[in-house]
Amino acid sequence: MQHPTERLESMRQEALLGGGEARIEAQHGKGKLTARERIQLLLDPGTFQELGQLVTHRSTNFGLDKQRFLGDGVVTGYGKVNGRQVYVFSQDFTVLGGSLAEAHAAKICKIMDMAMENGAPVIGLNDSGGARIQEGVVSLGGYADIFHRNVKASGVVPQLSLILGPCAGGAVYSPALTDFIFMTEGTSYMFVTGPNVVKTVTHEEVTSEELGGASTHATKSGVTHFTAANEALVIEQAKRALGYLPQNCEEDPARLAYDAKDETRPNLDGLVPESAQQPYDIRDAISEIVDEGSFMEVQPDFAENMVVGFGRLAGQSVGMVANQPAFLAGVLDNNASVKAARFVRTCDAFNVPLVVLEDVPGFLPGTDQEWNGIITNGAKLLYAFSEATVPRITVITRKAYGGAYDVMNSRHIGADLVFAWPTAEIAVMGAKGAAEIIFRKEIAGAEDPGAKLAEKEAEYAELFAHPYNAASRGYVDEVILPRNTREKLIQGMAMLKNKAVKTPRKKHSNIPL
Ligand code: HXC
Repeated sequence: MQHPTERLESMRQEALLGGGEARIEAQHGKGKLTARERIQLLLDPGTFQELGQLVTHRSTNFGLDKQRFLGDGVVTGYGKVNGRQVYVFSQDFTVLGGSLAEAHAAKICKIMDMAMENGAPVIGLNDSGGARIQEGVVSLGGYADIFHRNVKASGVVPQLSLILGPCAGGAVYSPALTDFIFMTEGTSYMFVTGPNVVKTVTHEEVTSEELGGASTHATKSGVTHFTAANEALVIEQAKRALGYLPQNCEEDPARLAYDAKDETRPNLDGLVPESAQQPYDIRDAISEIVDEGSFMEVQPDFAENMVVGFGRLAGQSVGMVANQPAFLAGVLDNNASVKAARFVRTCDAFNVPLVVLEDVPGFLPGTDQEWNGIITNGAKLLYAFSEATVPRITVITRKAYGGAYDVMNSRHIGADLVFAWPTAEIAVMGAKGAAEIIFRKEIAGAEDPGAKLAEKEAEYAELFAHPYNAASRGYVDEVILPRNTREKLIQGMAMLKNKAVKTPRKKHSNIPL
């Protein structure tokens, strides 16, 4: 009989080997790391504590009784990311294709429960063939046990999903229920039904990559928030994103040390072009305003007319939400509204104050927008801002027209401070459109309708295309020089540090989904 210590050691060795050397080689051959190599990259050296290494499945169906793997295809435990406690699971594709069944799911549920009880983030490294076919409904139940916990943990602790291989069928719904999804380019994909089923049902021919690869979800569906060329970069992204978030909803995100210095940013003064029709890149404003190099854009290639992401202001984590005049003139449409609403709610859930840069000509007109629900989707953004209780400050850089003025974190829906640059135009609509409507008869009856329109346009612009009407009502707190924006925001956030809002008692709110 083997000595007990030797027995333990040989079991450990067996567990570390997962599905065996040949399968590890195959995994590497596809440009993928193993479950354990990923954990090594993610966690601070020497901090990983594995739990459930010796867990095995119970099923005996289809030869599973002859083939048992210690750990059951998922490595779970806890450790530290940049000194912070996190809980982690990492699916091992070398073991039965990383497929999920009873024991595998129970291990994930266990660390999710611990994360909730101890108030720390959960990071899931996904690489799985989905529900383990041999275990039938038990596999489906295992997924549902995880989904249920994802929902319970939502808004309590940050949940990050890294997709590093296949993620198909209902398996996609656990990542979809978490706060952020990260995908590797070329080696990961997500879809509810794969190319074969698609072909049978709709006769469409599509590859896995086209249907649900990283670039598809980054540009077309908006399912993924971040993508990177390889696993090491994806893991770095996840660690960086975590830095902007707190451990749980009861805490504030960690503040980085910051020495006050000259906060004026003269480059901002020349950013907005003379002509209201000319675009500029709002990212240039963001990078001047936030601490140098601190902006981390979320969903950069989806709904590019809206820029959202994390940054820091004097070391404090903030969520930036900005219309992008360089893309579709910064108009609000379905995708932009949903993208921003989701980000606003994520920030609010985790005590990340909001900074809004506004330059928006209104909602995008058209049947496509109306038929795809711009009413409901625009309402999501309105709702998200209105219910957010974190400090929120708006800076109107240029256009704030129509309903979009109200929606983009206006004073009326609870902004704590509203600043406007002298270039701000706060009105029901642009001067030309307004003149064409309210002076239609006068223009039509004029000897020179073109000249009349220009005259009326100028008259309207003089009256409305500036921030001073709004400032005279107190809707705008201060008209500021662009160069002073960063300083004003830092002062404003410091003033709002202890903001506390009492909300009426309710079961939960009912956002228009
Ligand atoms: C059991 C599985 C498995 C699964 C893969 N394997 N998926 N075993 N259950 N779901 C096993 C394979 O049999 C194989 O074992 C090993 O894992 C590696 O798989 P390969 O096919 O050789 O790898 P690859 O060529 O890279 O293809 C990967 C794959 C493919 C595309 C993921 O394996 C595949 O299509 N699997 C089935 C996917 C699927 O339909 N899953 C169910 C989805 S429905 P051996 O021993 O031969 O090497 C679902 C419902 C969730 O998940 C419900 C939640 C509500």
